Amino acid sequence: MKILGIETSCDETAAAVVEDGANIISNIVASSSHIQQKYGGVVPEIAARKQVESIIPVLTESLSSSSNLQPHHPTSHLKHLTLQLRSVHASQIDAIAVTVGPGLIGSLLVGVETAKALAFAWNKPIIPVNHIHAHIYANFISHGQMVTLLNGQKTIQPFSHLAILFPAIALVASGGHTELFLMKNERDIKWLGGTLDDAAGEAFDKIAKLLSLPYPGGPSIAAEAAKFRISNFEFRIKLPRPMIYEDNLNFSFSGLKTAVIREVEKLKTMKQWNNETMKQFAFETQEAITDVLVAKTVKAAQKYNVKSILISGGVAANTRLREKFNQQLTTHNTSASLSADLQLIAPSVQLCTDNAAAIAACAYFLNKPVNWKTITANPNLSVE
Ligand code: KG4
Ligand code: ZN
Repeated sequence: MKILGIETSCDETAAAVVEDGANIISNIVASSSHIQQKYGGVVPEIAARKQVESIIPVLTESLSSSSNLQPHHPTSHLKHLTLQLRSVHASQIDAIAVTVGPGLIGSLLVGVETAKALAFAWNKPIIPVNHIHAHIYANFISHGQMVTLLNGQKTIQPFSHLAILFPAIALVASGGHTELFLMKNERDIKWLGGTLDDAAGEAFDKIAKLLSLPYPGGPSIAAEAAKFRISNFEFRIKLPRPMIYEDNLNFSFSGLKTAVIREVEKLKTMKQWNNETMKQFAFETQEAITDVLVAKTVKAAQKYNVKSILISGGVAANTRLREKFNQQLTTHNTSASLSADLQLIAPSVQLCTDNAAAIAACAYFLNKPVNWKTITANPNLSVE
């Protein structure tokens, strides 16, 4: 079954064709994030305008060979990720899947109204998708290799979603959400907990702004943190790990931002604020956020005695987070507090951030087609 996915919930305009929820035929993402950089975050009005301009070219690219691109392609001013493995014609599409929420209303409407028009014109079923659930299904898309612990021994095998073991804990850490889910099987998702205030990605973005680093904050902070790690500079700053020891599966990241504001002010008053101390803040911010994400996910994995941990969302692109999850798997395994057969699954980096391949994959596993007339964008769609 070939599903055309459409994603426009934030500042990306994306279209992809995925077969049987796992095999990418095409995956096109145009992002206006470099334009948003000037403003230090997403300006909803600008995001929606760019999406109106780019939705048709992005769809055209996802459905035909990229060699059809015009020299003055309207999306050429946008950052582009193009993956066209096979050419696929609109007549070969079995259904259209579209993100209906949560997200920015102006942005969501671009995707939803386009999907409805296509469903009507092509007479195809349409499948509404929850953006947060879709992040999880990026884990089901075929890519590279998977690392599994079998009786404490690490094994590496080619990835196939058929090899994902259940029950599983799924962490979604993005710019707007930090959520934990229990998956009893590939179609059964139960929400366990989430952030009470800022999301993990939001914390990266807001703290990056405080440190005068460019948007999006996650990659900027990761880059500065990496420089600090090799700098031999004496480490002095300590930030809190909010809620890390609390016996629940919720998160809170707004206190971290407040702590950074306070500490930066202190250093500025003492005339000790410089490029080196900024890098230290970047490093410690990344350590604090990743410590909490790993601790709470492992707590959930222990509580439900799961066989897999699936990570997703833009923050799952973070190398340090992946490193810490890998370490946890090995140390916890030896202490037998986690299942002896435990998998850590992470999508390729391009599939962590917003894309339409995950929308098509989610639709395949989770959602039902509906009448196009009944679909509406819902910016506050619940994740539960
Ligand atoms: O999933 P996503 O693309 O969009 C939302 O649904 O929000 O996530 C975007 C978020 C941003 O906050 C960005 O700073 C963060 O993901 N992010 C990262 C990294 N790449 C993107 N955070 C930490 N490390 C990264 N490498
Ligand atoms: Zn997202």
